[in-house]
Amino acid sequence: MSRLSVYRACLRWPLVLLLVGTGAALASELPSPVVATDYYDDGRPSVAKQRLGNFLFFDKVLSGNKNISCATCHHPQHFGGDGLSLPIGEGGEGLGTLRTTGSGDNAILERVGRNAPPLFNLGAKEFVHLNWQGRHQNKGTRLSLPCATKDFNACPDGLDNVLAGQNLFPMVNTPEMLGHPFENDVSTSTLRGVARFPVMWETYVTRLGEVDEYVELFRSAYPDIQSAADMKIHHVVNALAAFQTVAFRSDQSAFDRYLRGNPGALTAVQKRGMELFYGKANCASCHSGKFQTDHAFYAIAMPQAGPGAFVNGRSEKAEDIGRYEVTGKIEDRYKFRTPSLRNVALTAPYGHDGAFATLEGIVRHHLNPVESFANWDATQMVLPSRSDLDELDVFIMNDPASAERIVAANQLAAVELADTEVQDLLAFLDTLTDPTVATRLNRVIPIRVPSGLPVED
Ligand code: HEC
Ligand code: HEC
Repeated sequence: MSRLSVYRACLRWPLVLLLVGTGAALASELPSPVVATDYYDDGRPSVAKQRLGNFLFFDKVLSGNKNISCATCHHPQHFGGDGLSLPIGEGGEGLGTLRTTGSGDNAILERVGRNAPPLFNLGAKEFVHLNWQGRHQNKGTRLSLPCATKDFNACPDGLDNVLAGQNLFPMVNTPEMLGHPFENDVSTSTLRGVARFPVMWETYVTRLGEVDEYVELFRSAYPDIQSAADMKIHHVVNALAAFQTVAFRSDQSAFDRYLRGNPGALTAVQKRGMELFYGKANCASCHSGKFQTDHAFYAIAMPQAGPGAFVNGRSEKAEDIGRYEVTGKIEDRYKFRTPSLRNVALTAPYGHDGAFATLEGIVRHHLNPVESFANWDATQMVLPSRSDLDELDVFIMNDPASAERIVAANQLAAVELADTEVQDLLAFLDTLTDPTVATRLNRVIPIRVPSGLPVED
């Protein structure tokens, strides 16, 4: 279908105009096809950097207690996520939906506050806001990173891009990878206070410098490294970002083939779904562009079941305020970044807190957010060892004042679709699945890592 006919198809539903709360355009254009230059280094960072990043991504040496790697929460088997509503960080045991909250002294004290996003295409330059609330952002030439309270100068120099900047933080985040004070050399390397991150990063780099194989890998990836003494944290995260740019690049779906000029790549049903997505159903007013995201932030009355990423008094009153965390503006409360929908059929559960177990569930939420919020079934949360569910996670949903605020903040207008249209829309979302992605991701799981620590596969 040509752009023009999509446009015509949309014009058949002038009512949509009335439903668009934010004044967005009626008919959204189909995006142009993804090309290599959309990515950093044209999608081809040096092989030596990728190889180093690949090992680091799977190596538990980058966690305080050497018990969790990036891949634990962003695993190939789960297409870059973990299959859970809310991740189980360091101290947990096992992988994916079989992961437990751990046992004895090592058991986790709290869940990680938000759903682990799949990492698809984050090496594309247009992803300038990372994390659900966009905490890590690229503002033109300036990288704005929360490096330490009141001490932004603590950010390392030499970062390649915002993806590398984001990658600095999981390893110094207590429930994710760091562990608790005095449990290990990294968490103990500094006392709480200004500029503590650089000291912790240095401790990780020292660890890596003690592994001869890593020193060799760093030397071949970076001309400015002769010995362990030259290794710095920016070398670590630039390699991680190079690896993710290539491993999680995903632009070979049926929809990509269609946009590249192959009309037969989509079935009739899928094309009907596409017309809805870019027309009457209004999805593309936010899920626009090459990766189905406008990189902006909206409140869509997502049921709230996570304590959020930051301690907002992480007590029973904790709630996830989303974008407000970054801007401090009341109108940004409960706004989260429009997620990319690449491979979305593979990456359940959905939403910033994994509130919806199925794709149909989250799509139907969009059709009538306020009603869906009121009728949300908390038991669909994928939370192994869920004894804390009643006490903490759904507190916000049970609190009338919080619920009222979340509903009042909603910006997503209801859209009426017949059941058959919902099925068409789901058929279109399926066309965003890249059939090469499973094989390619499985290939990056290393058999061993240089630290000698066990690899999760
Ligand atoms: C305990 C689970 C866990 C571990 C371990 C973990 N992450 Fe994440 N990751 C998350 C969660 C949860 C988020 C979303 C955080 C938020 O929005 O506040 C996230 C966000 C991200 C993002 C931003 C994604 C986006 O779409 O904006 C990137 C990139 C990322 N992680 C990479 C890494 C790397 C690299 C490592 C290892 C150094 C790592 N993660 C370790 C859970 C984890
Ligand atoms: C007003 C902007 C807006 C519109 C319009 C919109 N979405 Fe969304 N969508 C979002 C935001 C924001 C989120 C994440 C919200 C959160 O987690 O709190 C989201 C989440 C999703 C998710 C979950 C993705 C994931 O990885 O968790 C899917 C699927 C989705 N939208 C599909 C659709 C479809 C289909 C339509 C059209 C019927 C649509 N959206 C219309 C803003 C929008």
